[in-house]
Amino acid sequence: MNLSSTTHNKGNAQLPPGSLGLPVIGQSIGLLNALKADRVDKWFQERIRSYGPVWKASLFGYPTVVLHGPTANKFIYTCDGNLLTNTQPPSISRILGSKNIIELSGNDHRRVRAALVSFLKLEVLKQYVAKVDEEVQHHILTYWKGKPEVQVQPLIKILTFNIICSLLFGIQRGPKREKMLPLFQDMIEGVLSIPINMPFTQFSRGIIARKKLAPMLLDLIREKREALEEQGDTHKDLITSLLSIRDDESSTTMSEEEIIDNIIVLMIAGYDTTSVLLTFLVRLLATNKSIYSTIIQEQQDIASNKASEEALTWDDLTKMKYTWRVATEMMRINPPVTLSFRRAKHDIEYGGYTIPKGWQVLLSASMTHMDDNIFQNPTIFDPNRFEKHAPPPPAFSYVAFGGGPRMCPGIELAKMETLVMMHRLMTTFTWEMIKKDESFKRVPMPEFDQGLLVRVKPCLFDQALATNHTQTKLNPNYGSTLFIDI
Ligand code: HEM
Repeated sequence: MNLSSTTHNKGNAQLPPGSLGLPVIGQSIGLLNALKADRVDKWFQERIRSYGPVWKASLFGYPTVVLHGPTANKFIYTCDGNLLTNTQPPSISRILGSKNIIELSGNDHRRVRAALVSFLKLEVLKQYVAKVDEEVQHHILTYWKGKPEVQVQPLIKILTFNIICSLLFGIQRGPKREKMLPLFQDMIEGVLSIPINMPFTQFSRGIIARKKLAPMLLDLIREKREALEEQGDTHKDLITSLLSIRDDESSTTMSEEEIIDNIIVLMIAGYDTTSVLLTFLVRLLATNKSIYSTIIQEQQDIASNKASEEALTWDDLTKMKYTWRVATEMMRINPPVTLSFRRAKHDIEYGGYTIPKGWQVLLSASMTHMDDNIFQNPTIFDPNRFEKHAPPPPAFSYVAFGGGPRMCPGIELAKMETLVMMHRLMTTFTWEMIKKDESFKRVPMPEFDQGLLVRVKPCLFDQALATNHTQTKLNPNYGSTLFIDI
């Protein structure tokens, strides 16, 4: 079967194999149950075995064609917006706004994406490692230090919220952030909920939260505009950066409405994803001694070359190669974003089948990530798959961050947050799971049953120092453990 043949349908091809199941419900309940039980890769593999790499189902209210394999991923991620669109259900744009990057296509998508990337690109973000580090250290001091037990997942969500507030929105710690956090949380729950707009449903809370948040964001944008006109610092934060982008006629390229919709979408896209990755890493390090000892060695080497209160730098992050390999492997086995949907704009012929106009097209990162023809022994956690000299996986088979023109623009920020947090946590504490087999459900984002409850202890260094009363130069703020200066 030639999977790369994709054209507008000439009318000869037939629908893919599979079943649409019951009206409306289709296979949604089966997929939702598989998500909840973390069996989604098996759910897809069973169907691939029965039907092959192209099959139909009815999912979340729409007839859907599911495509599997790197070629299919490439088709979905890179095909012309005239074949597949990224339009979300109207319920989602009621909360996210109609001008957010996910909804846009063609020139509008390129323009807004270029504006976001002008701040999120590596060359700019590199300058903000110390700012992320400061947020992380403050977080550890506030929520972890001195606590015998912590619920990791809710805390790390607070951390990712605070980093986005600081770095992207330029909102300092204080009442403004505190007022915004529950509104963002309601919006995220609203986006992920069943869209029934009745009093007290999650969906209606999401809509109300947007109505409350939008004027607050508008005030923020206007404050930033005034500050920009007075002080002229264009790269202070993402909002300021967006306000300073001008076209050839010196007009701003993004309207206030576009800025509001896009900062909302950045928060929603960046909040749960990075926190899911970090939570899984904390769990892994509590249970896998061999990976723990290799990462701690890498982190201690970095810490031992720095003065006690010195902030991390970009150069330090570039030395955390093994830590990032572990994170990469974690996202292979547990991709934070499991499902990506598109919609057929016309009848499309793909691999000898028709995808009718209006149908959903779905890919799941788990399908290629857990395919043993691509990743040998896919259930085994092996960070060395991503070792410098290992053969790279085929293009479009590792898709934790998507691919093509819509590939995640937050990848460098996610990497920076993950590495800084891992460094500070590991050089400050050790931890163990309180319930060894605490499980999680994907709803659709993974949520640990008890928020991943761990018992936290200061690192051995801290303990040794505490008992010996040795004269040391420990960082008074977060008790970093490696800066022994006897
Ligand atoms: C570990 C963390 C993250 C993961 C795994 C992740 C994953 C993804 C994936 C798979 C997509 C593509 C979805 C598709 O094509 O259907 C995506 C898009 C996107 N992500 Fe991320 N993301 C992460 C962090 C972030 C962060 C920190 C931000 C920003 C603050 C962000 C902002 C976005 C935006 C705006 C898009 C839409 C891009 C477009 O449509 O052009 N993400 N992300």
